[in-house]
Amino acid sequence: MAKMWTGVTAGKTDPLADDFNSSIRFDKRMARQDITGSIAHAAMLASKGIITEAEGDALAAGLAEILEDLQTGKLTIDESCEDIHMFVEQVLTERIGETGKKLHTARSRNDQVALDLRMTLRDENDEISGLIRKLLKVLADTAEKHKESIMPGYTHLQRAQPVSFGHHLMAYAMMLLRDLERLKDCRKRTNVSPIGCCALAGTTYETDRQMEAGLLGFEGIAMNSMDGVSDRDFAVEMLSTLAILMMHLSRLSEELILWASWEFRFISLSDAYTTGSSIMPQKRNADMAELIRGKTGRVYGELMGLLTTLKGLPLAYNKDMQEDKEGVFDACDTVKMCLKVLTPMLESMQVNTGNMLLAAQKGFINATDLADYLVKKGMPFRTAYKISGQIVRHCMETGQVLETLPPESYREFSELFDDDVYAAIDLKACMEKRISEGGTSASSVGKQIALVRKEIGE
Ligand code: ARG
Repeated sequence: MAKMWTGVTAGKTDPLADDFNSSIRFDKRMARQDITGSIAHAAMLASKGIITEAEGDALAAGLAEILEDLQTGKLTIDESCEDIHMFVEQVLTERIGETGKKLHTARSRNDQVALDLRMTLRDENDEISGLIRKLLKVLADTAEKHKESIMPGYTHLQRAQPVSFGHHLMAYAMMLLRDLERLKDCRKRTNVSPIGCCALAGTTYETDRQMEAGLLGFEGIAMNSMDGVSDRDFAVEMLSTLAILMMHLSRLSEELILWASWEFRFISLSDAYTTGSSIMPQKRNADMAELIRGKTGRVYGELMGLLTTLKGLPLAYNKDMQEDKEGVFDACDTVKMCLKVLTPMLESMQVNTGNMLLAAQKGFINATDLADYLVKKGMPFRTAYKISGQIVRHCMETGQVLETLPPESYREFSELFDDDVYAAIDLKACMEKRISEGGTSASSVGKQIALVRKEIGE
């Protein structure tokens, strides 16, 4: 396609250079935002008398038609164009004639591309937030069912203290709530309009940037034209928010993988989200969870990539900045895919509460409560801690557990032991006694669930 910027140069570039320079392969994704932005631009130009009302109408009608034709497939994007902005303007001019050439008045591709990217990431932000809300709902619903299902809580991957499976799941819900909050915050700074900054210095036309921003749903405008066309911090912020989100999804995935293993068997993943092995007939692999964990690396990489691309750039626009799009688009797509798979995978998993309880019974996870029992009878905590440790050791050596160790054995370690020790170390009681705010008791988990439901508007 003929170049629109031939003027001082003849535009006779090497085809290899054209291909290298072109971004249409990936910025065509912003076609809708580009056209919507241009319709607002035409309206602003007409309202300020920079073009006539009739010209404004012709531009708007032509642009709307292009959008519709793209959506119905009547028009396909010509990938020999340099970028989506050039393509739209070119088709517009072919279709409506000379007036099409007026669209680019008081605008540059520099503010145009920044506008398109902000609008695109705003949409992605909304879509991803919606998917997180769906995941939160499944977490809350599952936690509700398992407020009282006992499992061992771990530190250092060693059985530590009893928690409910619901409490464990709600830990992830809290992380995701913060991810939602970060997205909302990031959206605020993304939702600032750069259009009207033009190439870098603003324009001599009497434009109305506020009006144009308002038409496009922006909450404000960039107050320095060089900043408006140069920074991509909103994209970096989106990437870092997505990187943190992926870290959370990855940790949850790692636990699903562990829990689904024969060693744990706390959950069984539905057939719909497991794969077999081509050689080992018994295998049920948690591939989806592994992929979520694996894809986290790629989103981290995209964050680091954009930070690095931007770090040495002098103001204002530099072509390096064309490299801003692929990474952030890929990160958005990756996150959306992961959320779309993780949510039904969690919803359909079978929770093996019996195995969780069995694991909880074998790990002396009530040893802290045994020590607390002695403390409540007047013993200093450090002494109680030591005696409890000796009892656990005795149990290990003799193949017993705290729940069934006879009273006389207990009393060999301390006179303070009475028959009420069994109630004090009962696993369910251990869990239910943890009534401190945010603790694992069913009432606390209930509060957490209510909080999440409120945040997601249920
Ligand atoms: N394709 C370019 C990009 O993605 C659009 C802006 C080009 N501006 C310019 N002055 N060359 O950044």
